[in-house]
Amino acid sequence: MTIKNVAVIGAGTMGNGIAHLFAQNGFKVNLIDLSQVQLDKGIEIIIKNLDRQVNKSVISKEEKNKALANISTFISIKDGIEKSDLVIEAATENLDLKLKIFKEIDEFAPSDCILATNTSSISITKIASVTKRPSQVIGMHFMNPVPVMKLVEIINGYNTDKKITEIIIELSKQLGKIPCEVNDYPGFIANRILMPMINEAIYSLYESVAGVEEIDTVMKMGMAHPMGPLQLADFIGLDVCYYILNVLFDGFGNPKYAPCPLLTNMVNSKNLGIKTGEGFYNYTPGKKELVVSERFKKI
Ligand code: CAA
Repeated sequence: MTIKNVAVIGAGTMGNGIAHLFAQNGFKVNLIDLSQVQLDKGIEIIIKNLDRQVNKSVISKEEKNKALANISTFISIKDGIEKSDLVIEAATENLDLKLKIFKEIDEFAPSDCILATNTSSISITKIASVTKRPSQVIGMHFMNPVPVMKLVEIINGYNTDKKITEIIIELSKQLGKIPCEVNDYPGFIANRILMPMINEAIYSLYESVAGVEEIDTVMKMGMAHPMGPLQLADFIGLDVCYYILNVLFDGFGNPKYAPCPLLTNMVNSKNLGIKTGEGFYNYTPGKKELVVSERFKKI
């Protein structure tokens, strides 16, 4: 099976990154979202990120224009997926929403179309169970920022056909990524390991073991992480971290995954990190340097 036509559902951070990646690698991409406003926003970000690559001589101007010409936008799932070889769902991380979307995709996608989800934590087996083709459903978990991060975590649902996994592994290599095959258990591998680290960093702050800068500096300078765990939590979104920790907590029934009460408070007060302008750090538009949030500054 050759994959040429790809549909991406959701034009948010992950969706526009995935569309950018496929379009840049010569695939025809149908980008789908609920409104033209959201689609226009997604395209605007793709243009900004392609320009970034042009400025760094990663791609030429012609390659940028070709990539953009490969993307079409749709506000109807049915119209956007009817000729697709692969659909990648990258909608909001919400179980009911994903199940609803997969029922619709299953109804309108060609019978041999592969259905992938970019979920960071929801069970692939559960998502597959609402379709009539569970053997063709797979997890394709990209990392943010998609055009930069090398990993694609490939998640086999309980019923995913081996041939489908092989196709998706080959496809990921074709996109210049490093695929890693894992099985469908809570948090898969990426978030099963990443989220407890982030939670532990938040606990260290909560228990006043160290300040925000110290915690992040230890991990950046001591372990060569590009971002410290608190900065990374702000980057991912504290609501997303909270959600994934609860998936781990519920899925394993183990209290070691319970979100730190400080994280819960921050989520309840809508201090969600970069997207709301405030988390462990403060994000003022136009400012590049990292400023610790007033609340966590030392007196
Ligand atoms: N599109 C294209 N290129 C981009 C980009 C984007 N969206 N964002 C950054 N870049 C490029 C920049 O142009 C730059 O290119 P050069 O190396 O050629 O100069 C490079 O990436 C580095 O960017 P910056 O110079 O702006 O900034 P930086 O050096 O601080 O790097 C970063 C930024 C790549 C985000 C880096 O800080 C990093 O790797 N952070 C960790 C990211 C991470 O852990 N991601 C995974 C999060 S978890 C997840 O996504 C999944 C989940 O389930 C929660």
